[in-house]
Amino acid sequence: MTVTIVGSQLGDEGKGGIVDLYGDDVDVVARYQGGDNAGHTVVHEGEEYKLSLVPSGAIRGKVGVLGNGCVVNPRTLFDEIDTLQERGLDPDVRIAERAHVILPFHRVLDGIEEELKSETDDEVGTTGRGIGPTYEDKAGRRGVRVGDLLDPDVLRERLEYVVPQKRAVVEDVYDLDVDELDDPDAFDVDAIFEEFREFGRRFEAEDMTVNAGAFLSATIDEGQNVMLEGAQGTIIDIDHGNYPYVTSSNPTAGGAATGTGLSPGVVGDGEVIGIVKAYLTRVGSGPLPTELGGVVGDTPGYDEQGEGENEELANYIREEGGEYGTVTGRPRRVGWLDLPMLRHSTRVSGFTGIAINHLDVLAGLDEVKVGHTYTLDGEELASMPATTEQWKRCEANLKSFDGWPEIDWADAADEGYDALPENAKAYVEYIESELDTPAYAIGVGPGRGETIVREHPF
Ligand code: GDP
Ligand code: IMO
Ligand code: MG
Repeated sequence: MTVTIVGSQLGDEGKGGIVDLYGDDVDVVARYQGGDNAGHTVVHEGEEYKLSLVPSGAIRGKVGVLGNGCVVNPRTLFDEIDTLQERGLDPDVRIAERAHVILPFHRVLDGIEEELKSETDDEVGTTGRGIGPTYEDKAGRRGVRVGDLLDPDVLRERLEYVVPQKRAVVEDVYDLDVDELDDPDAFDVDAIFEEFREFGRRFEAEDMTVNAGAFLSATIDEGQNVMLEGAQGTIIDIDHGNYPYVTSSNPTAGGAATGTGLSPGVVGDGEVIGIVKAYLTRVGSGPLPTELGGVVGDTPGYDEQGEGENEELANYIREEGGEYGTVTGRPRRVGWLDLPMLRHSTRVSGFTGIAINHLDVLAGLDEVKVGHTYTLDGEELASMPATTEQWKRCEANLKSFDGWPEIDWADAADEGYDALPENAKAYVEYIESELDTPAYAIGVGPGRGETIVREHPF
């Protein structure tokens, strides 16, 4: 069977930790979208691993697959694999031949477009990894796929088509001189060909490429368990998120089918677990109706967002939760949990269960609030409106919960759900009841042992 792990909010909900938690019963872990914009943290035997591309299950020695829905930067991938090997692990990673390759010019173009948009405060606040430009070329039918790296003739032919177009975009659209960019080789067919052909040889030598759909289907037919690891989160999904402040792929459950080659029936026969952080964080721009304010440094788009209000509280939660971007180190914006957002995510992906993380981070506060509904133009809304302009105008109707004390969380995780403070249980049960979805797991710390497990999905 399959279990699909989906971020229910804006990324960084603790997906990596939950993939790891349930990883024992799994044979294969497959990522279905995104690229090295992801940063998933796994704490294994006291060691912290921050993974951008290697699926989180690889830490436990499971086979990791990067599905066709992913965009793969081989530079990052091999760096990550080499680093893990230096730390004594031997990750077994297979890459879909249909996955698209992030080429050097994609990263440069990501930067140029963000820079241009920042002149009018319209930047998305991307991770700068070239994610959007690579998916653009995929949709534009001018991309290079992992399978193309294995065939020098095809690789050269595709580069000779696409690279001059990108040079022209830089020079004619952005009015910049390619030779004066930091990395002019990013737009040089020969330089790219040499480097990426070498990556192709390594893929071949280490037998790393697969037809992901066929490979994963065969795995399921043999009765093995497959975990589908989403990156990012529902509200930065390109279709169901707050466009244009989104990533360029589908983190929601539908993406698990298109991004792996498993049928929607196979994904739907399994469980879909929504990962919920007990409050909200966001890196990058865009509205956030329950935002608390108080970002350290200069997060794009922040100035518009209720600066100053509850700043101390936001700073407190940010420090307690270590809320700094895994990939970019940016301070994360902080807000209260947002139920209209979660009702939307639950509907889009059909969560069969949820995992609520970071309950420990809120411990010690006198009062914990949630956005229960929104008011938009005098009307009460239970779920998110479809346009970002409307969402920006939504006022959150807050509901207040009594806080819960700091306790020994590892002990509580050992003892089980009943060991949680009463007020923390009331918070969990409110979320379960509003979403009509049971909490399979409750995270009370970053380690594998700091999770209360109520249900094993496999
Ligand atoms: P992901 O991108 O969804 O995998 O999440 P990240 O790894 O980017 O961010 C989650 C951070 O919170 C990591 O540093 C985790 O180790 C940590 N974490 C995960 N679950 C919990 C939890 O329940 N409590 C606390 N305090 N930290 C957690
Ligand atoms: P994980 O998997 C949080 C955000 C960026 C930006 C927007 C678009 O660790 O949850 P992109 O580089 O993807 O074009 O940026 O999406 N973003 C994330 N935010 N967690 C992530 O991944 C993210 N990946 C992208 O900050 O706002
Ligand atoms: Mg992350």
